[in-house]
Amino acid sequence: MNESAALQSVTLCEHPLAQHNLSVLRSRHCDNERFRLALTRIARLLMHEAANDLPLTPALVETPVARAECRTLAPDAPILIAPILRAGLALSAVALDFLPEASVYHIGVYRDEATLTPVTYYNKLPESIDYSRARVFVLDPMLATGGSAVAAIDMILRLGASLDHLRLVCVIAAPEGIAHLQERHPGVRIITAAVDKRLNEKGYIVPGLGDAGDRTFGTV
Ligand code: PRP
Ligand code: URA
Repeated sequence: MNESAALQSVTLCEHPLAQHNLSVLRSRHCDNERFRLALTRIARLLMHEAANDLPLTPALVETPVARAECRTLAPDAPILIAPILRAGLALSAVALDFLPEASVYHIGVYRDEATLTPVTYYNKLPESIDYSRARVFVLDPMLATGGSAVAAIDMILRLGASLDHLRLVCVIAAPEGIAHLQERHPGVRIITAAVDKRLNEKGYIVPGLGDAGDRTFGTV
């Protein structure tokens, strides 16, 4: 898939507050506390975008005055939140606040610093549930080579989830990561606040924001 075709399935969140908070996150002078706060703020806007086509079902609600014809989230379309550890944790608290009826299944993946390949070390996804109608939000602020996201999405699709109902929510994506993901899972929807220039020789996004996990958890 060429780069422009790959970019078609990317939703860029251009909300002014997303862009403002992104500039806070990017700054090397932003301390860990402000970093977490800006990540939380940006996550709200990204989730707003990512959840904008959740299925609804009609419902009658008695107001204090009369009966109202409403629409509620469809109960037969379970919502799954899958944060990729560690940095995805910063987004999952916001996602769960936004979607309180969701279930959160953590996925542990880190990338080997020498080879940049993903290493999976934790998988809380149950095998016993029906994934076919599930709406799945995979959360990770950084899409760099795309290896970690591909590994996580592979695990979810293997259990029977539909790619049409899956969203990858990130904060910064590299063109290389988008292309990798689209090659492995054509059409996968990505919601991000930025598509940066490139990766450097160490696999870091340029200009990026550095190491999202270290900056979130103060482990620099
Ligand atoms: C970071 C980030 C992503 C991954 C992206 O995690 O949070 O999960 O790198 O890189 P990729 O697209 O090249 O796979 P990291 O490997 O640093 O794990 P950690 O936060 O648990 O240390
Ligand atoms: N992971 C990060 O946290 N930052 C990058 O720039 C690339 C991978």
